Amino acid sequence: VKRIRTHHLREMKERGEKFAMLTAYDMYTAATFDEAGIEVLLVGDSASNNVLGNETSLPVTVDELLPLTRAVTRSTRRALVVGDLPFGSYQRSPEQAYDTAVRFMKEAGAHCVKLEGGREMAGQIELLTRGGVPVMAHIGFTPQSEHALGGYRVQGRGDTAQRILDDAKAVEAAGAFAVVMEMVPGDVAGQVTRELSIPTIGIGAGNQCDGQVLVWQDAFGLRTGRMARFVKQYADVHGVLLDAARAYADDVRAGTFPGPEHTF
Ligand code: KIV
Ligand code: NA
Repeated sequence: VKRIRTHHLREMKERGEKFAMLTAYDMYTAATFDEAGIEVLLVGDSASNNVLGNETSLPVTVDELLPLTRAVTRSTRRALVVGDLPFGSYQRSPEQAYDTAVRFMKEAGAHCVKLEGGREMAGQIELLTRGGVPVMAHIGFTPQSEHALGGYRVQGRGDTAQRILDDAKAVEAAGAFAVVMEMVPGDVAGQVTRELSIPTIGIGAGNQCDGQVLVWQDAFGLRTGRMARFVKQYADVHGVLLDAARAYADDVRAGTFPGPEHTF
């Protein structure tokens, strides 16, 4: 199996082939998604509110994300593994971003990193790229800036569409190898996709992007409750686990597990 590299994604864009990206935070999900042929696995800062029990992505730290990232890189053979730089670990300066990115690569084996922001992150993207760290940018709605943006809302509607385009062009010019667009109108994301040479990856950004990404707990139904409009549910993992846990508990209480075949 050949490892997917950043240039492969660009070549897929040039051929008009779309690619799939999912989050992953541990060995068995990573290995399963890799086996399924998912091209890109993101160890998202969404681990904060999908693995570590926080309400948002803001509290998660580099020290918490590194072991999860290491688990994913160790458990995949083909997928490109992206380390997601958490809030506060890169915004202060390009140097801070570089030091953090190097930890993801050296200590966790990440193949590249993702950071949130457009024009304002050009310095970070330039230094990282120059220093051997491929960068995936993330524009549109950027969850780490939830409080600055005034909550979860679509970005780039109406006459603010130009700002999305400017951000996309700025991160491409700074050296980003791909850009995630989150909660952007489909036609705006389509225009960005046509005007950029690097691949775009949508989440709530319509079907004209070069790739798509979803948080797996949302898409495969481990998380229950209110889901964003852009999520499609492909499975009911919560239901599978709930039924299995109840069946196990019933067996234990009834004395039917373990049976003779499980007993030495
Ligand atoms: O952390 C995350 O899961 C993300 C994706 C949804 C793009 O940043
Ligand atoms: Na993220």
